[in-house]
Amino acid sequence: MRDIFIKACNGLKTDYTPVWFMRQAGRYMPEYQRVRQKYDFLTMCRTPEIAAEVTMQPVRILDVDAAILFSDILIPLEAMGIKIEFIEEKGPQVHPAIRTSAQLNQLKPLEIEKIQYVFEAIRILIRELNVPLIGFAASPFTLATYIIEGASSKEFINSKKFMFSDKESFHKLMAMLTDSMLLYLKEQLKAGVNAIQIFDTWAGILSPFDYELFVKPYVKRLIEGLKSVPVIYFCPNATGLADQINETEADVLSIDWRIDISDASRLFREKTIQGNLDPLTLLGSEDEIFKRTTYILTGGRKARSHIFNLGHGVNIHTKVDTLKKLVDFVHNFKHKEE
Ligand code: CP3
Repeated sequence: MRDIFIKACNGLKTDYTPVWFMRQAGRYMPEYQRVRQKYDFLTMCRTPEIAAEVTMQPVRILDVDAAILFSDILIPLEAMGIKIEFIEEKGPQVHPAIRTSAQLNQLKPLEIEKIQYVFEAIRILIRELNVPLIGFAASPFTLATYIIEGASSKEFINSKKFMFSDKESFHKLMAMLTDSMLLYLKEQLKAGVNAIQIFDTWAGILSPFDYELFVKPYVKRLIEGLKSVPVIYFCPNATGLADQINETEADVLSIDWRIDISDASRLFREKTIQGNLDPLTLLGSEDEIFKRTTYILTGGRKARSHIFNLGHGVNIHTKVDTLKKLVDFVHNFKHKEE
């Protein structure tokens, strides 16, 4: 197996910078669209052979250094008494939304038997892939925002109202989601994933004070339970949360483009840095793309180790050819002697 990605996760310097992309399997890719025309997104996630096939498409087509399981952070809710739907243009819908302590009992601890298709997809992939497979889950907080809002949100009014008006119930919800995500991720480990990424897409909406209180203890507990493989923590807007994030045991921090990678390397000295090209750069000219990529690869040398990625998922309007050229550029990049 090509293990340069795992080496970088473990903090080792590598001969070239490994690269993969969040949302590397998706609608920007004609090969994905061909499958997607026949099946809806949830059917694709629930059918191990299809999920495995779509996971492998970007590995074959782009030559990235890691695969990420094709699924969604909301999938485990199907095994927790919550219904999920993906509606074109509207994004994910979750019901019932849970906003009071009285509604908490509608959420059940994860029943792993109900989502065996996830682990079956992993087992197929472990047989087929020649690069490491990344398993994943949402952080308890990010998952809580979907459960409370019932959909994607901009201001998270219901989540914050819940959190600031009934903190005991909010902690109860967080504790239960942590137990369930820990069980879910341990089952992914048993099926064979080589690394884990925890998506904390929305933790950056909190003040450091509230992150410390409501998020950090649960992220810490989750990561400490998973120490057999490298753990990547994806947290956009991480700058103001640096002290807290450094206290989690994540091996890798995945950052967005709002922070300079040299600053991130200083702030998060003990972690491998993953990132951090603005995905919409890829809609611009090659000249601009490679200029920023060079800047990031150069800054990434200051980090303990560096994995090249975007600051968020691949945008649907991205050309496959652009991503292919970007992978080649990263692989062939020669650092000037220091
Ligand atoms: O990265 C990958 O290639 C692995 C698969 C993956 C998906 N979603 C596939 C997907 C992963 C790791 C996710 C994580 C996820 N899902 C997050 C965290 C990362 C982030 O983006 O911040 C979040 C917040 C979600 C929730 C979600 N799923 C939203 C908001 C949407 C709708 C937006 C959209 O682009 O359609 C989804 C749907 C979704 N998840 C698609 C894919 C490929 C699009 C499905 C389709 O219609 O084909």
